[in-house]
Amino acid sequence: MQHTSNIEKVKMLEFPQKGDERGHLVVVEGNQDVPFEIKRAFYIYGSDPDVVRGQHANRLSEFVLINVAGTSKVKVKDGLGREKVFSLDRPHIGIYLPTMVWKDMYDFSEDSVLLVLASTHYDGTEYIRDYAEYEKEIKESSHQVKENK
Ligand code: TYD
Repeated sequence: MQHTSNIEKVKMLEFPQKGDERGHLVVVEGNQDVPFEIKRAFYIYGSDPDVVRGQHANRLSEFVLINVAGTSKVKVKDGLGREKVFSLDRPHIGIYLPTMVWKDMYDFSEDSVLLVLASTHYDGTEYIRDYAEYEKEIKESSHQVKENK
């Protein structure tokens, strides 16, 4: 029995590059280059290579992650046994993360600056930080999908 899960919606994005002889310029517009209106930006830097960040799922927030400098990796899990790993290694490449996927960010290079664009303002209560709780919510919602078919 295959469940559809939000992991299918995870995708790499390539942003328009408008650089010239003066240098590089990359454009990221809400609702155009990323599939949501951008309400928040934050960035992560100075994480050691052995640090794992994220380790949560979000009930409401969608994100786009861009390594504007340096490199990192993102592992995405769907709570139903599937996982995918993506490398962020160019300033004009991002990854789109929909709601309700589990994500780990790791393998940060020393110069890594990871820019995160979010569809929501911060609300700690929409985070699921316990993997067992995440799996439980995913399994409950996939049962509901089955029952409504
Ligand atoms: P955390 O979610 O642990 O970061 P990461 O996703 O990289 O693992 O956030 C670290 C702290 O920052 C935590 O106390 C919550 C706070 N925070 C905000 O206040 N606003 C935000 O937009 C974010 C992402 C975090």
